[in-house]
Amino acid sequence: MADASARTRPLTAPDIAAAKGGEPLVMVTAYDAPSARVVDGAGVDMILVGDTLAMVVLGYDDTLQVTTDDMVHHVGAVARTKPHALIVGDLPWMSYHVSREETVRNAAALIRAGAGAVKLEGGRKRLDAIEAILDTEIPVMGHLGLTPQSIHAIGGFKVQGKQLDAAKRIVDDAVALAEAGCFAIVLECVPDGVARMVTDAVSVPTIGIGAGRHVDGQVLVYHDLLGFEDRMRPRFVRRYAELGAVATDAVRHFVRDVRGGLFPSSDETYHMTDQLETSIDMSVLELAGDGAEAPAGPTTHSGTELTDA
Ligand code: KIV
Repeated sequence: MADASARTRPLTAPDIAAAKGGEPLVMVTAYDAPSARVVDGAGVDMILVGDTLAMVVLGYDDTLQVTTDDMVHHVGAVARTKPHALIVGDLPWMSYHVSREETVRNAAALIRAGAGAVKLEGGRKRLDAIEAILDTEIPVMGHLGLTPQSIHAIGGFKVQGKQLDAAKRIVDDAVALAEAGCFAIVLECVPDGVARMVTDAVSVPTIGIGAGRHVDGQVLVYHDLLGFEDRMRPRFVRRYAELGAVATDAVRHFVRDVRGGLFPSSDETYHMTDQLETSIDMSVLELAGDGAEAPAGPTTHSGTELTDA
């Protein structure tokens, strides 16, 4: 969207909605302060605190394991970095399926933690939940195609909309979501022809992941983009770095240095002043002269300043 240097205030859902058809929007996930600083510093338009938290941070095999409390915890960490990008908080499975009241309370918890919008999965079936949230003035991002919270119902992580009726259902769902007031819609793992039909059919931006180029923006998961996640490698993931391997290599180097006596060096060590060292030596000698057992090496009581300063 706008050049980072020209950015003066945090982006909002209406800013994103207004960007339909312009420069492609960019969303990347982040789950904590360091990752939020990285993606915001790189100039993304939106930070998605996704429920992929369950898989890429917490080590689960699917996204069904995280709760609203987990999401609040991580949205808060991202929000404390005060990013310029819009923070979108993902509503986890079962947080918007039980009642309007629970739905609204859970959406509000993400907003109070610092999100500027929430995202939820599903089409017309979820209109009631979407309308309830919108009614409390919270912007909602939709999510269609492969909806990972439904993996048991759809039979796994599979491309959606490959048959004509399924493709048509996705387009109709997208139109319903846009008409209900969603400010943007994520399209996950659908053929590019379906993404094009949806993008042409709705007046709000479509944000693709595994949906090809005919969308208004792209989203990737931080750990996929940077090469931290190895368990799944779908074809739509382009790895812009192999930081997992770089990190392992760095820690391996540290292990080698410690075991080889190469860490820490003298420069990485706090030294006593010569004067302090002498006076400690003297007091050790005095103690020994009094008949007390001398300590094995130079000691000082905790709190004594040992810096070089
Ligand atoms: O939770 C998430 O990270 C997502 C993206 C894959 C769009 O929903």
